[in-house]
Amino acid sequence: MKGTYCILDDEKDFLIVAEKEFKKYLPDMNGVFTTDSDDAIDLARKDDPVIFIIDIVLGGKTGMEIFQRLSAVSKKVRAIFITGDENFINDDNVRNQILLEGSVDLMEKPIKWHELAIKVKNNMQLLLYQCNLEEIIAERTQQLIHADRLATVGTMVSSIVHEISSPLTFIKANQEMCRYAYDKVKKMTDDKEVLSVFDTLILPSVEESMNGIGWIEELLHSFRRFYRRDDTASEVNFSELFAEVKNLTSYNIRHNNINFSVEISKSAPKKIICKKQELIQVITNIVNNAVDAFEETVGMKGQKELKIVVSGDDFMTNVVISNNGPAIPKDVFERMFEPFFTTKKAEKGTGLGLAISRQILKFMGGTIYVENKSEKHPTVDFIITIPKTYNA
Ligand SMILES: Nc1ncnc2c1ncn2[C@@H]1O[C@H](COP(=O)(O)OP(=O)(O)OP(=O)(O)O)[C@@H](O)[C@H]1O
Ligand SMILES: [Mg+2]
Repeated sequence: MKGTYCILDDEKDFLIVAEKEFKKYLPDMNGVFTTDSDDAIDLARKDDPVIFIIDIVLGGKTGMEIFQRLSAVSKKVRAIFITGDENFINDDNVRNQILLEGSVDLMEKPIKWHELAIKVKNNMQLLLYQCNLEEIIAERTQQLIHADRLATVGTMVSSIVHEISSPLTFIKANQEMCRYAYDKVKKMTDDKEVLSVFDTLILPSVEESMNGIGWIEELLHSFRRFYRRDDTASEVNFSELFAEVKNLTSYNIRHNNINFSVEISKSAPKKIICKKQELIQVITNIVNNAVDAFEETVGMKGQKELKIVVSGDDFMTNVVISNNGPAIPKDVFERMFEPFFTTKKAEKGTGLGLAISRQILKFMGGTIYVENKSEKHPTVDFIITIPKTYNA
């Protein structure tokens, strides 16, 4: 067992016997034998788990005073007090006081070494368990704070969507005003130069702006739908669903020159009953993960391909999302569905995407698994199965 014990006693002969006995009964643990309380303090400062076995009377100080100092230095220390002093042994008040002061046990000299070794071992086990739990709690607390921050980002995005919508309305109205002005000018003049300024400069810019506005509006719609809580299952049409996935990911796809295709096979159900936004969330995450994988690959040769194929029958729908980017490294492959596991920079990935996707699909009675790229298999495939109907 890992962990350290430290015997602090001012009798040198006692320490020599203690060392011999403890090496016999606790051969795997690290032992420190000392008459000097400063050695004990130095050991506690390392902040590793230590069980101290302390004589109640130590030169000018009491064992309890020393233990108080040790506890002030580290929370990972425990004490078993020992004494050969008849006054302590027979005084119940002192015994109670010692246990109340925070020691885990009290033993009398002459020591039964085997019994003391078992007590050290048991208390070390408890201490290690407690330290481990505290680390897990600290880590989970950080994760919760992070998740909370993400929820705030979600709220911010919905208010940004709202803020963009208002100016967009009058930008659009102004473009329409330009078209209206042109119609008016055409009726007022047949001056070729004036009309040509409209035809070659103003109107093409207006058309381009209107396309851009339409595109922003589509994006805002997708964002709105994405952030709206969609708690009820409904009939979802696959073509519509993938159109939204494309909207939400279009910038990343174009920016990385990826060829993105969706193929819905004849056998596939055209519609399924599910919570649309949740399924969009699952597929969008897988698509964005593939984009990130392409982005991180330096000098990839050939066309980047991202393909979604939907197939299935009357009972089950299969969605396979494949990319021809790099194979997933073995250590990542083994952990990628764990909550908060990510290989991305803090501002880019939270490591929740696949863990949430698996939860969502599990709730639908479906599954998600990955087939990695290998010599025999040219793509990384995320395979999703969804029952045609489920008890939503
Ligand atoms: N197509 C892929 N190719 C290579 N690695 C991938 C792929 N998809 C996922 N991964 C790996 O799995 C990890 C976990 O993915 P997951 O979607 O759960 O979290 P994330 O993308 O890191 O963060 P986010 O919460 O923003 O989705 C990624 O960080 C990445 O290392
Ligand atoms: Mg992700």
